[in-house]
Amino acid sequence: MALAHGLKSIGVLGAGQMGLGIAFVSAVRAKVPVLLYDKSKDQVAKGLALMDKLLDKDVKKGALQSADAKEARERVTVVDSLTALRDVGMTVEAVSENLQLKQAIFSELAATLPPSAILATNTSSISVTKIAASTLQPGQSAASEEGKATASRVVGLHFFNPVPVMKLVELIPGLQTSSETLQTARSFALACGKEVTMSKDVPGFVSNALLMPFINEAIMCLEKGIATRDDIDKTLKLGMNHPMGPLQLADFIGLDTCLAIQQTLYQGTADSKYRPSVLLERMVDAQWLGKKNGKGFYDYPSA
Ligand code: 3HC
Repeated sequence: MALAHGLKSIGVLGAGQMGLGIAFVSAVRAKVPVLLYDKSKDQVAKGLALMDKLLDKDVKKGALQSADAKEARERVTVVDSLTALRDVGMTVEAVSENLQLKQAIFSELAATLPPSAILATNTSSISVTKIAASTLQPGQSAASEEGKATASRVVGLHFFNPVPVMKLVELIPGLQTSSETLQTARSFALACGKEVTMSKDVPGFVSNALLMPFINEAIMCLEKGIATRDDIDKTLKLGMNHPMGPLQLADFIGLDTCLAIQQTLYQGTADSKYRPSVLLERMVDAQWLGKKNGKGFYDYPSA
């Protein structure tokens, strides 16, 4: 049965904190069957355990009937290849913030799914136009009817972490994106219970063009010894009413993700104001990636 957004099922690529969150709101709020793909079985197991925990919490709180939670959980099926996604109406890619990885995935998706399927990316900063161009198959011209059709179904659908809680989706059309693609993506985000804003395809869009320099500047304050970690975070929490300080937020997003976004801003604008903090680079060199692997600006012993 087609749902309000017209999608009978979707595919989610990546079962990390973003992909899992997107699968969760798709199954629970939009009530759409989800095929979840991740090349790491460990990541899938971790993701599904988190989904069970979130559903359980919502049932205990009375926010969800247990029968509805069971139905939502049954809407999520794990698949082990991109070929298994060939019949979905839309895919949402939420893998690491790496252009080459995304290009390889979009090229394969375009070769596997029919031209009617929408290919959304949850990229935080990478050009949607560039990702859309990677759907062109070898020898296919961007100016041909097939070339235009394949790229016109790519759109940026930017969710925020934690996806079940944050109310926003930022919609980003690439140069090639069709109005039909935008419309379906918007309807889907609304069905997931989100409010939608739209930004142009510039590095970082609106959200990360504002957030990442803020986080980067906080890391530079720490690097220069202007204040301690705790005082920097306390300043923003108590002085500006932010729910968490910028250093804690960086840990929560993932320091590798923060660095990748800051590098996209720096390279994409050639503006020195976006230079990533050396301390951020060194922490990623040290594999201190934040909450997800136990060490960032803070320690997370149970990660
Ligand atoms: N997954 C799902 N739900 C979560 C969660 C998670 N990882 N973490 C917390 N929650 C839920 C809790 O279960 C709780 O739900 P309930 O009200 O139904 O019980 C609710 O969030 C509040 O949690 P807590 O009471 O434990 O903690 P807080 O009141 O401190 O809130 C927070 C936690 C919502 C994460 C809050 O600290 C916050 O808003 N932080 C800022 C988040 C933020 O800025 N996100 C954007 C990051 S940028 C981004 O994602 C873009 C990307 O491109 C980089």
